[in-house]
Amino acid sequence: MSAAPRPEPATEGRGELATAAGSNEVATAVATEAAKSAVPPRSRRTARAFSIEDLRGLARRRLPRAVFDFFDGGSEDEATLRDNRAAYQRVRLMPKVLVDVSKVDTRTTLLGASSSLPIAIAPTGAVGFGWRGGDVAIARAAAAFGIPYALSTSATASIERIASEAGGCLWFQCYILSRRDFTLGLIERARVAGYEALMITVDLAVGGKRERDFRNDFSIPFKFTPKNVLDFATRPRWAFDMLLKGVPSLENLEGFTPAATSAASQASSVGRNYDPSFDWDRLREIRDVWKKKLIVKGIVRPDDAERAAALGVDAVVVSNHGGRQLDDGIATLDALPGVVAAIGDRVPVLVDGGVRRGRDVVKALALGATGVLIGRATLYGACAAGEAGAYRAIEILREELVRTMQLCGVPRVSDITPDLVRHDVRAA
Ligand SMILES: Cc1cc2nc3c(=O)[nH]c(=O)nc-3n(C[C@H](O)[C@H](O)[C@H](O)COP(=O)(O)O)c2cc1C
Repeated sequence: MSAAPRPEPATEGRGELATAAGSNEVATAVATEAAKSAVPPRSRRTARAFSIEDLRGLARRRLPRAVFDFFDGGSEDEATLRDNRAAYQRVRLMPKVLVDVSKVDTRTTLLGASSSLPIAIAPTGAVGFGWRGGDVAIARAAAAFGIPYALSTSATASIERIASEAGGCLWFQCYILSRRDFTLGLIERARVAGYEALMITVDLAVGGKRERDFRNDFSIPFKFTPKNVLDFATRPRWAFDMLLKGVPSLENLEGFTPAATSAASQASSVGRNYDPSFDWDRLREIRDVWKKKLIVKGIVRPDDAERAAALGVDAVVVSNHGGRQLDDGIATLDALPGVVAAIGDRVPVLVDGGVRRGRDVVKALALGATGVLIGRATLYGACAAGEAGAYRAIEILREELVRTMQLCGVPRVSDITPDLVRHDVRAA
């Protein structure tokens, strides 16, 4: 797969990270072979963003409320959204001391391919509403770091565009659309474009009830209403860009005319086009059609994980869609150990939801995950400053991961074992 040409190799002063990392420089250098081959895109806007929360603040300031809320929000009372995050805070680290951590190696293998970090980019739809070209921006940042990028069916960039403009290790996330021929067509396009894995998301039989979107008059396809026009007027630069260049389209869904769906199956504008009858038999059909790696995303139950493993999937993602689907669904970090106990000896288990810190990655790995996916972290970055912002998000997580590994006395990913964490009620 061709990667987009990138500028000269970086030397010193890879911006603020090198300074902020201090004694981590050696370790960081070991950790980022892939990233070294490119000059990181820089933006003054993100120069003083030291955490994912800082990037979130920048995104919030740039975007109209409706757009920010679409990315930031969850479903109904947002209990699962909050608990995904809180679950990480309920787990505490038990660091080892007197270990040589002068060199840290964050490399690992994800689905048979080498990755510079135990992190992949989760699929997120409609990114172009937050930053024009945002999908390509995030994919390029992932390629620069040498980590996998999952393209959403509902992306604002096509399967082919991402392959030619970003390259790197690409996975395609496929929703099961209400038209079978169209779904199979997307899968075939991903195969032809050289995507290495197909990810089937199974937690979106219907759309979650995302009340922020209702209140803000935000829907996809996008419609102007008196309420959201007033909101957009508060962010004139964003609004002018939309007016002058047009509203981004969901490029993979061009030409898709949904079959008639019942109003009952539509909890929000998201999910309108999907097939709620999709089941295990149909998943088996996809397993038969797609010969490369197959990932199932959106499992939290050990028995479902067992069924997926029996069906021959290559990885499972413990996910609740970032708290955007079923509210009061279990936090993913709480669900992870059960899924790992069920299938972890046979099938790699990834986890997503609420990862905002490098130390979260250590906790997830200690609880048995092979790697984590990040959704909003890079979204906030891209919405703050495009490719530079997405790059900065991964850079922050990488630096925090390296530092946490050093402070925990675990210089290699394989050193991260269950004894490194403790569930502590006092931390709740
Ligand atoms: C704005 C947004 C759009 C998303 N779109 C998709 C999607 O198209 N397909 C999918 O499988 N998951 C989608 N997700 C869920 C993510 O893949 C991932 O599960 C979730 O974001 C992880 O939680 P985090 O954002 O806390 O990292 C989306 C999430 C967000 C925030």
